Amino acid sequence: MFNKFYITTPIYYVNASPHIGHSYTNIAADALARYNRKILGKENVWFLTGTDEHGQKIKKAADEAKLSPVEFVDKVVLQFRDLWKKLEISHDDFIRTTQDRHIKFVQKALQIVYAQGDIYEGKYEGWYCTPCETFWPLSQITDNLCPDCKRLLEKISETNFFFKLSKYQDWLIKYIKDTEKNPERIHYIQPASRRNEVLSFLENNKLEDLCISRPIERLSWGIPLPFSPKHVTYVWFDALINYISAVGQFDAQNIYRSDWWAKDVRVVQLVGKDILRHHAVYWPIMLEALGIRQPDTIFAHGWWMMNEDKMSKSRGNVVNPSQVADKFGVDVYRYFLLRDVPFGLDGNFSEESIIKRFNGDLANDLGNLIYRTLTMVEKYYAGIIPELDIYKAKYDASGENIKQKIKDLHQAVYTPLSRNNDFSLAFEKIWEVIGITNKYVEETKPWNLVKEGKDEQLKAFIRLLVEAIRAVGQEIAPFMPKTAESILLQLGSPKINKTDPLFPRIEIKKK
Ligand code: MSP
Repeated sequence: MFNKFYITTPIYYVNASPHIGHSYTNIAADALARYNRKILGKENVWFLTGTDEHGQKIKKAADEAKLSPVEFVDKVVLQFRDLWKKLEISHDDFIRTTQDRHIKFVQKALQIVYAQGDIYEGKYEGWYCTPCETFWPLSQITDNLCPDCKRLLEKISETNFFFKLSKYQDWLIKYIKDTEKNPERIHYIQPASRRNEVLSFLENNKLEDLCISRPIERLSWGIPLPFSPKHVTYVWFDALINYISAVGQFDAQNIYRSDWWAKDVRVVQLVGKDILRHHAVYWPIMLEALGIRQPDTIFAHGWWMMNEDKMSKSRGNVVNPSQVADKFGVDVYRYFLLRDVPFGLDGNFSEESIIKRFNGDLANDLGNLIYRTLTMVEKYYAGIIPELDIYKAKYDASGENIKQKIKDLHQAVYTPLSRNNDFSLAFEKIWEVIGITNKYVEETKPWNLVKEGKDEQLKAFIRLLVEAIRAVGQEIAPFMPKTAESILLQLGSPKINKTDPLFPRIEIKKK
């Protein structure tokens, strides 16, 4: 068991505005951070996010915007910061790869790996498209033309620096397999299908050493290599290091020291499936070469599509998280992303599916349970929650079942979340309580209890509903912080503070 928790998201390229994909990882990471803060205490959780600001992509976008790279990244980064604020992202730190703390750390790390002989100088040869500034592998080229712009490619040969991935291939295969023997570390690459994918890639391909430099005349926007001023660092080598540069330092003996990337901390890293190889092959090898421990979990989530189609700027179908949150509410957006698709699989985004979740789970189920319960508290008890211990009161079979489910809810949510980041299953458990409690209202017909003068029974019944709502409010807090706050406030003690329904149904206009 760990009593500290460190969670990271990828750091996002600031070449364009944030989109649904970025918000997805940050909302998931935020939910896990909040959840763990609740269990372990605020001081035992660290949540890092940030931006990836060097490299070709950014330089190109800055040129197009007619700004210097520094001016450009300083501008775009604000959009990310603003969005995280709006979506209630509770990160403890925000790292930018252009910060001095990061640059110095990367140079130190490069120096260490270079000094021990894991980085060497070599020739890089390849087919290069100058307008697109991209090398293309032979397998993608026909007639010496750029697959993108169809212009003639040039054969380029340049001196670069290479990181010895190949030396570590066998070690990595063994490491991944060994994690399964250690019950504390069985959740290394998740979901299991992704772990199999990585293993099969490693077992069937010979790793090539990674080119980790770019000549300065071709790209100047990067961190200079400490041992070769004519080169800058390849953006991925620079970017991956953020996870450790943000939370630690090398000491005089080049040993990495950190309170968070440390033995007694559970380190969880969320990434999208498209960048799994960087995180499950390059990254562990970089850490191993630096003599630093591995993370506990690398979890690769799926992609959001738009009407079954890939989202892209050119297709004009990119979802703007800020607009969706404005239209439906921040918590609704958070809920939808985490609930609609099991974490790890691809999802399809559409406003219709949000409205379906809204009207069903939120309006009919959750909102209705709160509103009808508090209406009864008002009507029968002048707004004062009846004093009673549900664990001492006697109920019929359905009531006893609800009581048990309330008691078990915390564990029922904890298990899927802590083992597999399984948000959907956690939500199912919460909504099961909402569902059976709503059903209980319909079965019990409280107005009959009133008519028949069954006072004690009515009191026990109402208090059970209140406790069900309280448990739900507590459990949804990490996912829907504002909603939880409102629910717990409405249940104020002893007098309730009833508001309008939290999720008034969205009427769908018939065309
Ligand atoms: N800068 C690198 C990451 C470096 S981490 C050391 C990068 N940045 S990115 O901005 O292009 O993408 C970041 C994340 O967004 C990736 O995890 C990617 O999977 C995710 N997504 C991009 N589009 C997405 C969807 N449509 N749906 C879900 N996630 C997607 O890669």
